[in-house]
Amino acid sequence: MNRRYRKTIIAGNWKMNKTATETKKFAEELKTMLPKAKWCEVVVCVPAVNISTAIRAFKDMRVSIGAENVFYERSGAYTGEVSADMLKDLGVKYVIIGHSERRQYFGETDVTVNKKVLAALEAGLHPIICVGESLEQREMGITMELIALQVKAALADVPAEKARKCVIAYEPIWAIGTGKTATAEQANEVCNAIRATIRHLYGARVARSVTIQYGGSMNPGNAAELLAQPDVDGGLIGGASLKPDQFTAIVNAANQE
Ligand code: 13P
Repeated sequence: MNRRYRKTIIAGNWKMNKTATETKKFAEELKTMLPKAKWCEVVVCVPAVNISTAIRAFKDMRVSIGAENVFYERSGAYTGEVSADMLKDLGVKYVIIGHSERRQYFGETDVTVNKKVLAALEAGLHPIICVGESLEQREMGITMELIALQVKAALADVPAEKARKCVIAYEPIWAIGTGKTATAEQANEVCNAIRATIRHLYGARVARSVTIQYGGSMNPGNAAELLAQPDVDGGLIGGASLKPDQFTAIVNAANQE
């Protein structure tokens, strides 16, 4: 973390979990435990059908609501899709774009990720852009090149003043939902390389202002060490974000003075 230059953001990614009823219950429980997050922003990204419920349920808590996906067209004959304007109108602040599960199961590519980033920014949303390598790619020694490519592709045609509004989440695919976390050094090494890519694209001022999260089996036991790294500015948390006590513990780790 480096709070002098950029925001620390702890975001939950609920994936395809929790009904609207469970969303309300989670918010009620979280309310009794969540500290006043002075030093970090807390975000909960929920399934699209639960957004309205979440906006209401978290209204008087300092929690921002995020979506897990968005389509890049503004409107039209795209059955089943949700536009950036629709999300913005509900009060959504963040949207996860290019999560590895969407790349793997729903055919997202660096090209569609870029279109979605542009659409989200146009609507005034903050994209949380996910990048990350598979185990095979790490073992082949191409992690850095691959991540740089993913970041550059996602930010194609994004001007500097809008790049500042983006969050990048480094999520090694081998660490997602596996209980295997990247070491703090591995996480920082890649987050640092992401910042170097942004510096190359936009210069030092933008690079130092962009929040870069780590995601992949982050939990109350490893959060403090990961967040202590200079280039790890927060977490994108799957499994542990579904449990109010665990999510709170991670927020507490980011909330240390
Ligand atoms: P886990 O925390 O369950 O490994 O998931 C990470 C993730 O994919 C967040 O987007």
